[in-house]
Amino acid sequence: MGESKDKIDCEPTVNYITMEEVKTHNSSKSTWLVIHDKVYDVTKFLEEHPGGEEVLFEQAGGDATESFEDVGHSSDAREMLKQYFIGELDLADRRKENSKDVLITTTSSHSSWWTNWLIPAFAAGIVGLMYRFYLTETKSSS
Ligand code: HEM
Repeated sequence: MGESKDKIDCEPTVNYITMEEVKTHNSSKSTWLVIHDKVYDVTKFLEEHPGGEEVLFEQAGGDATESFEDVGHSSDAREMLKQYFIGELDLADRRKENSKDVLITTTSSHSSWWTNWLIPAFAAGIVGLMYRFYLTETKSSS
């Protein structure tokens, strides 16, 4: 019995929510926020928020990750988030900064590693060839 329950806990059905849908929940009747690609329904939390409801309204129906992090919320605040979680942000709507930027950084640092070596090596090879050519030229002409 316990085992089958564990299995269910391990495979939760992920509810994906599009940004388009999040955007429609921007009123006091229904306030949704996106923080770190997760969607939270904070309608019932508005009045309880120690930072005031206005700041939450400003971000309503949008991505509040930056503002949330700028405030430097405590781990208690992060724990509180969990109870308002309603789903994951649709993969297609996720911010490029989180995933792609990391990818770009790694790719570009990789490519710069290569170009950092290849370009000087190539240039040195050409200079060497030219020097050899110059030596044979001067030798044959004298
Ligand atoms: C569901 C999301 C949020 C939760 C659960 C939450 C929770 C909390 C909690 C528990 C505090 C008390 C201090 C602490 O424990 O860190 C706090 C303070 C604060 N929050 Fe939030 N917060 C949320 C979203 C936001 C957002 C999006 C903003 C946007 C600007 C914000 C702005 C603030 C500010 C300015 C304070 C400081 C209040 C003060 O020190 O007087 N919060 N929040």
